[in-house]
Amino acid sequence: MSDTSETPAGAAHSKPPAILSLIGDTPLVEVTQFDTGPCHLFLKLENQNPGGSIKDRIALSMIEAAEEEGKLQPGGTVVEATAGNTGLGLALVAGAKGYHVLLVIPDKMSQEKISHVKALGAEVRITRSDVTRGHPEYYQDMAARLAEEIAGAFYVNQFGNPANPLAHERTTGPEIWEQMRHDVDAVVVGVGSGGTLTGLGRFFNRVKPRRGIEMILADPTGSVLYEYVKTGKLVESGSWAVEGIGEDFIPEIADMSLVTDAFEIDDAESFATARELLHKEGIFGGSSTGTLLAGALRYCRQQTKPKRVVTLVPDTGNKYLSKMYNDFWMAEQGFIHRHPHGDLSDLISHRYEAGEVITVGPDDSLLTAFKRMRDSDVSQLPVVDKNGRAIGIIDESDLLVKVHRAPSHFNDPVETAMTDRLETLPPDTKIKDLLDVFDRGRVAIVMEDDKFLGLITRTDLLSYLRLHMPKSATPPEREFV
Ligand SMILES: Cc1ncc(COP(=O)(O)O)c(C=O)c1O
Repeated sequence: MSDTSETPAGAAHSKPPAILSLIGDTPLVEVTQFDTGPCHLFLKLENQNPGGSIKDRIALSMIEAAEEEGKLQPGGTVVEATAGNTGLGLALVAGAKGYHVLLVIPDKMSQEKISHVKALGAEVRITRSDVTRGHPEYYQDMAARLAEEIAGAFYVNQFGNPANPLAHERTTGPEIWEQMRHDVDAVVVGVGSGGTLTGLGRFFNRVKPRRGIEMILADPTGSVLYEYVKTGKLVESGSWAVEGIGEDFIPEIADMSLVTDAFEIDDAESFATARELLHKEGIFGGSSTGTLLAGALRYCRQQTKPKRVVTLVPDTGNKYLSKMYNDFWMAEQGFIHRHPHGDLSDLISHRYEAGEVITVGPDDSLLTAFKRMRDSDVSQLPVVDKNGRAIGIIDESDLLVKVHRAPSHFNDPVETAMTDRLETLPPDTKIKDLLDVFDRGRVAIVMEDDKFLGLITRTDLLSYLRLHMPKSATPPEREFV
């Protein structure tokens, strides 16, 4: 295929797409549906950036700085170690400017994020999540090495790049200052790389010197930063599920001396607060939005005088639909508590009575059954008749047996392929008997007399056991910004 654009192949575009001009200048709205004590609390909607996060700003700033300093030439490659919003921002900005983008991503990151950066044209190298600094396969060491090996490559390194805080000092800070009509008492931030803290802190110290504007840190429980602010000590890190903020070290560009006070927020409170923000104010933020808002609300409610407080919605909730905004995920992780029955029904993740089970009818076609399995990412479905009775189960191998010779059998009804020898168990069954069912290669159907309660699969049992694992036995997980 011939290149019909005016730009020579491999060269940076002389005029990038206009979408880049939409980075920044994000709106600021007041929180009106929460108890903010005597304060007025405002949210800077960074989720409105074209890439969906605050990181679009630093992507633009770091790429432009590299161009100005001659570190990035037309046809060059932008290399970064990231799985998060910085990768999306770079894929958008550097991609739009015609550079090749290579992202080194730890293997624990979600497929959705990887698909997103690939769709933007980035090349992805997957590396290990279970190794630390100094290991050749640690994501940051690997990115640095690749950047040395590839001719014309530029290693962005958001953790040590001065153009990261500069983006906030030059854009985010001045925008907040103007939108608040030069009347701000406190700003609540999170720290991932530290760019936001350092940039905003420097700007606000300049416009209102001598700590005239308080810089409050909201940090996930498990991160080392809260303790560092409070005691000056670096403690061992734990793990947390909020994404994008919290650290197990102090990043090079994070000027922690700018922080005037700190709050520690656990995952449960962060998730609940972000969900409440969507319900009450219609603002769709990510998990760290919950941490920042929870911290800001605590700060506001502690005040005795009215203050004008700003915090951020650092990214969009879109990326968290299968996690924080998914009730099943929340229950599986133990963030939503269902009333426990103390029996097998506690292991049912999708309850039939609550309309949570995907089922198929005996007269539905095998094609319908297959599509439902694909769409809901399960490998078997209960077959439920018109009276709501579970009369069978159909799985992928039942489908294969029917259709492998003649795919036209996809039109046959489910009842011709389903298994009707059901492994039904009453709710008071012991876990040991459940294991026997799994050993026979079956899933368990829980019935209370005639009433179908739901299915239990191996995955349900594993999730249940993980949730009941003692906290002390849970290894810390690393955060990848
Ligand atoms: C998702 C997310 N990423 C990044 C950041 C900011 O981190 P940084 O310290 O890298 O500027 C935040 C800040 O709240 C965040 O919520």
